[in-house]
Amino acid sequence: MADVCVEDGRIVYVGPRPAGPARRKAPAIGKFLVPGIIDTHVHFRSPGHPHKEDWESGTRAATSGGVTTVCDMPNTSPPTLTRALWEEKRALAAAASRANYGLWVGAASNNFDEMNELMDSRDACGIKVFMGGSTGPLLVDDATLARVFAETRGLLGVHAEDEALLVGARERFAGNPTPDHNEVRPPAAAAAALRRLVELSRAHKRPVHVCHVSTSAELAVLEDVRGIVPITTEVSPHHLWLSTETTQGNFTKCNPPIRDEIDRRALWTAVRRNRIDTIGSDHAPHTREEKLLPYWDAPSGIPGVETTFPLLISAIRQGRLSIERMVQLCSEAPAQIFGFHRKGWVKAGYDADFALFTEVDLVKLTTSDLLTRVGWSPFVGQKIGLKPEQVYVGGRLVAQRGRIVDDDVRGTLVRPGDSR
Ligand code: DOR
Ligand code: ZN
Ligand code: ZN
Repeated sequence: MADVCVEDGRIVYVGPRPAGPARRKAPAIGKFLVPGIIDTHVHFRSPGHPHKEDWESGTRAATSGGVTTVCDMPNTSPPTLTRALWEEKRALAAAASRANYGLWVGAASNNFDEMNELMDSRDACGIKVFMGGSTGPLLVDDATLARVFAETRGLLGVHAEDEALLVGARERFAGNPTPDHNEVRPPAAAAAALRRLVELSRAHKRPVHVCHVSTSAELAVLEDVRGIVPITTEVSPHHLWLSTETTQGNFTKCNPPIRDEIDRRALWTAVRRNRIDTIGSDHAPHTREEKLLPYWDAPSGIPGVETTFPLLISAIRQGRLSIERMVQLCSEAPAQIFGFHRKGWVKAGYDADFALFTEVDLVKLTTSDLLTRVGWSPFVGQKIGLKPEQVYVGGRLVAQRGRIVDDDVRGTLVRPGDSR
């Protein structure tokens, strides 16, 4: 139990009996205070897609769910490959983001100077590499991947699925209008890509954050090199909560796919045994209309930035996770891995981004609980936890019980290496 004092957006004191009076007080007796979630994996859409998510709707959803920092991925449209596009996205975020924001730069064969400029200036939070095609066009082939390791600097975030294996499987199912997505993009493709990544990371001693680990095969690859290569890992809530037994057609079509029960359980074991470092939602806000298209035309991805916290609270309630482990996965580890040194902890000197909650019974999620513009979630109808009672960004109360109470708050750019 302690008091937390905030001044100018920073935590200035944590402990008993603070010295001076406060201008404003928020009673928190009997409640838990945790650092805000740092979701380093979201896809918010850019201009030209008014029906999809933008920075306003996306970060309202985020903050309502206890996410106080988001890192946006490049395969949004237009993809963040050039300095100019990166700056355009930064301007959009600066004007509209209710959460703090980091911006990835995407790797392609023709933007090496810009990748290095954005990383050396510490403006981009990392370089995102797609080893397998997903929503955007595939921009990194084998030769480019090798060059990315040899010629760029900083943290690499990788979508690891082997393109050659994906193409082969896709051809085998081409005549089938409703194939099993987990067979079209099989677990072996993820494990093969990860093996190559391990070799590259080992050879170049390069930090790699592997996005959305989804299979026991990948966990086995990682177990063999634990402590030897500088690889860290992310898991997405949909891979922890959904399996091929509970898919909902295209609404749960995502890349990498929802896997079978054995994989899902292996992921939970890995989470509990500290074999997974972070949780990232991979928030991919495709609309209902798009999801109702035939299998081959429907885009992959699941909206999730605002359901991470309620889902994790349900795991805590059910005894599958501790609050401490949730904080490690969602706040401390992302801050450490990405070098956001002012974030991730409720401690003096850190930014005042946090969430206040009480343990409550689980309730059914409804569409009216959602603030994402796409207005759907595969978890609607499931009994999960509530959004936090209060969420603070930079010391300002932005959301209360899932509703935005101050729409004027704007976050700031988070940069790797930011110091306290
Ligand atoms: O399912 C996915 N959706 N996986 C990705 O890698 C991209 C994402 C999106 O942006 O649609
Ligand atoms: Zn991905
Ligand atoms: Zn993604």
